[in-house]
Amino acid sequence: MQPIIAPSILSADFANLQRDVEMINASNADWFHVDIMDGVFVPNISFGFPVVKAIKKYANKPLDIHLMIVEPDKYIQTFCDVGANILTVHFEACNHLHRTVQHIKSLGMQSGVAINPHSAIDLLKDIIADIDLVCVMSVNPGFGGQKFIENTYSKIISLTELIKSKNSKAKIEIDGGVDLKNALPLLKAGANVLVAGNTVFLSPNPSQTIDQLKSIQL
Ligand code: DX5
Ligand code: ZN
Repeated sequence: MQPIIAPSILSADFANLQRDVEMINASNADWFHVDIMDGVFVPNISFGFPVVKAIKKYANKPLDIHLMIVEPDKYIQTFCDVGANILTVHFEACNHLHRTVQHIKSLGMQSGVAINPHSAIDLLKDIIADIDLVCVMSVNPGFGGQKFIENTYSKIISLTELIKSKNSKAKIEIDGGVDLKNALPLLKAGANVLVAGNTVFLSPNPSQTIDQLKSIQL
């Protein structure tokens, strides 16, 4: 099966956002990965609702919204209203994750849970059957262009086992430092979705780089 490729808009040229959205529309990418950072949960601020709305206006593929914010519950309805198809909250930001996940699903969105590099996969064992996606952070969230953390491979292997043992349909998404070299081993370890920011947008031919990621054969 071919991987799902989700270019991260964080690495796009915000002064030419429509151009970059249309490049992804015309490419072999599957989803738009949209990073929301609040300057509290992570030490960076990205963008908010007006920008998501602007992306949605032109995007012809699903929006995969990754919330790196505290108190995500406050904004679930609004992210639905501005066009989220997949809404991912951080395990570390939710005191009542089960409730949060049910809320997201009740609005018709797919529900994702992101997990920081220091959080063990085991922590997901009582939620894995309820969710559509696990976003395994392969960098500490907050910035594009960081170095991939090698421990991610063993987390993917544990997560694959957990998903199987709980009969879960969750997809495994890898976010941070994904490039043309580690993409194949990540997919071999069990990843289904590759987020790529700098690898796509800093390449001389972003659309061709998306093709290269998409056509990786296992
Ligand atoms: C990091 C974000 C990522 C980021 C990935 O906190 O969640 O989605 O945009 O960018 P690259 O692929 O450049 O590491
Ligand atoms: Zn992300």
